[in-house]
Amino acid sequence: MRATAIAHTNVALIKYWGKRDEHLILPANSSLSFTVDKFYTKTTVEWDKNSAQDTFILNGEQKTDAKVARFIDKMREEFGITSKAIITSENHVPTAAGLASSASAFAALALAGSSAAGRDDTKEYISRLARFGSGSASRSVFGDFVIWEKGQQPDGNDSFAIPFTNKLCDKMSLVVAVVSDKEKKVSSRDGMRLTVETSPFFEKWVSAAETDLEEMKKAILNEDFIKVGEITERNGMKMHATTLGAEPPFTYFQPQSLEIMDAVRELRENGIPAYFTMDAGPNVKVICERENENIVAEKLSGLAKNVLICHAGKEASVISDEK
Ligand code: PMV
Repeated sequence: MRATAIAHTNVALIKYWGKRDEHLILPANSSLSFTVDKFYTKTTVEWDKNSAQDTFILNGEQKTDAKVARFIDKMREEFGITSKAIITSENHVPTAAGLASSASAFAALALAGSSAAGRDDTKEYISRLARFGSGSASRSVFGDFVIWEKGQQPDGNDSFAIPFTNKLCDKMSLVVAVVSDKEKKVSSRDGMRLTVETSPFFEKWVSAAETDLEEMKKAILNEDFIKVGEITERNGMKMHATTLGAEPPFTYFQPQSLEIMDAVRELRENGIPAYFTMDAGPNVKVICERENENIVAEKLSGLAKNVLICHAGKEASVISDEK
């Protein structure tokens, strides 16, 4: 049995930063994201009784990947099967550049894996499963705005994403200013762990993120773009502040990232509402209203390697299924 699924990546406006359970990938705080249309992963899974080992081909090259290997084991355990997996994946996301390729990758893998096993799992189930590959993957199962509820239960059964679609999605653009497309130096997993274990700012971050999320939900429901932008920018900066308090301290900021942030502030001074955020890499993501996307992209194009304008992306879907 074989199935192909597509999932888009997402950019968090309220960040997930820090786990309360490393093994079950349970976050310390709930997060909220915007799924983007430009970056996605297309993955085919075949559960093959005759194969002696799992195979993983990414962009035409055979790979050995510990995270993928663990995730295949997790799927076998969940689905109660023993067959080996043949996985073929095309990643339309610059890998490991802070553009969360793992989010679309594990969302697509979970959905294709489940469908290839002949199952008809709910999106809620797929989101919970994708979480085991990468926390942010739980959010890539849905389109538009998405909230990943941290949940309360120790077993993590109530920790999955839910859609928070709103008309504001169609009025918003996300401009990605690519500073580097190289492999990041500190992975999100390692960065989070070091922050949780050593940063005195971590506890404050968790409570601030919860407050930011509540305000963000209200701002989205009011379709108040300015408020959404302000909360996005301050939440991202609070997340990055925790890394400076870690031991040893680290940062994802590069000189060019700071220049781009300045340019965004300058846009605002000139009456263009635009707000930045960053993830576990040096690229800067800027949100603005659609009518201003070209002005923003033009302003940033001299400072970045590449500038890409994205809009709201759709939920993950199965595009072919052969039983
Ligand atoms: O899903 P992970 O383990 O790659 O972590 C993602 C962490 C951030 O991108 C920095 C924030 C987020 O919520 O996406």
